[in-house]
Amino acid sequence: MDRNQQLFEQAKKVIPGGVNSPVRAFGSVGGTPCFIRKAKGAYLWDEDGRQYIDYVGSWGPVIVGHAHPEVIDAVREAALDGLSFGAPTEGEIRIAEEIIKLMPSIEQLRLVSSGTEATMSAIRLARGFTGRDNIVKFEGCYHGHSDSLLVKAGSGLLTFGNPSSAGVPADFSRHTIVLPYNDVEALHKLFKEQGNDIAGVIVEPVAGNMNMVPASAEFVQALRSLTEQYGSILIYDEVMTGFRVALGGAQSLQNIQPDLTTIGKVIGGGMPMAAFGGRKDIMQCISPLGGVYQAGTLSGNPIAVAAGLKTLEIIQRSGFYDVLNRRCNDLCQGLNAIAEEAGIPFSSRYIGGMFGFYFTPALPVCFDDMQKTDNQHFKQFFHGMLARGVSFAPSAFEASFMSGAHTAENIADTLGIAAEVFTEMARG
Ligand SMILES: Cc1ncc(COP(=O)(O)O)c(C=O)c1O
Repeated sequence: MDRNQQLFEQAKKVIPGGVNSPVRAFGSVGGTPCFIRKAKGAYLWDEDGRQYIDYVGSWGPVIVGHAHPEVIDAVREAALDGLSFGAPTEGEIRIAEEIIKLMPSIEQLRLVSSGTEATMSAIRLARGFTGRDNIVKFEGCYHGHSDSLLVKAGSGLLTFGNPSSAGVPADFSRHTIVLPYNDVEALHKLFKEQGNDIAGVIVEPVAGNMNMVPASAEFVQALRSLTEQYGSILIYDEVMTGFRVALGGAQSLQNIQPDLTTIGKVIGGGMPMAAFGGRKDIMQCISPLGGVYQAGTLSGNPIAVAAGLKTLEIIQRSGFYDVLNRRCNDLCQGLNAIAEEAGIPFSSRYIGGMFGFYFTPALPVCFDDMQKTDNQHFKQFFHGMLARGVSFAPSAFEASFMSGAHTAENIADTLGIAAEVFTEMARG
């Protein structure tokens, strides 16, 4: 038994399933999760000393690469002044200003500690502002694990084939309407019938929790115009896509101005931090100004703010997103060519530093399409790559991430390894 296996056995005794977030358990691909000892740049090292090129990036935050020296210095410096104050700091103003500068639809924001908190608070705010109860979400989109959003959610739940969570009262989920993603007709029909009762619509503008599936232009335009027409709040959940697909997030690429936006992952630079923000008239409904309650002991934590500020500085340097795009393009094109050569049905795409690959010839546009992809092929690919030192997310339903630390050589190495794995897969 190697050290990863030993640790997994120990972990299972004290932590349910041995992990602190379900998808880490390798449930949908089988085998033993790698216990990570350290990470640097594009690489991870596990407890058995094996090195991996990493395309998970802690599920999105690590856009500048692991343990970036400038981020580590910023964290070290901040830590010397104290880990948490529970009082306002100047850093909170600076990071709010920075985010508002980069995402102009956000006029005011509040910092929280996780994406789940951000979306949960945004939903409460939409309900409080409109005085309506019903919200709309889309099949295959994941917005964290708060009760009203755990209705046919994707991500880890999908992996375990469980469409909704035990423990969520049916009464709560009655107020969440779930529609198919990218289905403009279904959206029009719903608003025509119930538009005046809808508090808000929450959407991943590029879904990353049913692998990567971008929203179509017609879909996001319909979302914007219908919510405007019926006085509902449009919430862009950019926890994953914010500062990831482009500096201004998916909303900058789609030219959509949502009423509220949730962000996380990148803005904490690897520390627990997220935020929700948007129109000032809506944000002013939050306590202490308004009647919508929201709070957090560690909100705006000074270490997380320091890591986030430095990360936001680095991603604004000239050419940062050009490199992400180029690396993703080279990897996706390379994988497509290798798969074709091996005769394995496959497709892939990318936006900025986020990419998806699918064991199906046609790019999926909704959750139903994603469910038709070949999971057996995915498992073979995942384990073949991992055994040779390349780490992808352990589920076919997760997007992949590139960082600024990935080099052309990393991509060439990954493609060399992928060629071996696809050849092996073609042999059956
Ligand atoms: C789009 C989206 N929203 C919300 C969340 C929840 O964020 P967290 O895991 O920080 O609670 C995630 C997490 O992956 C996400 O991808």
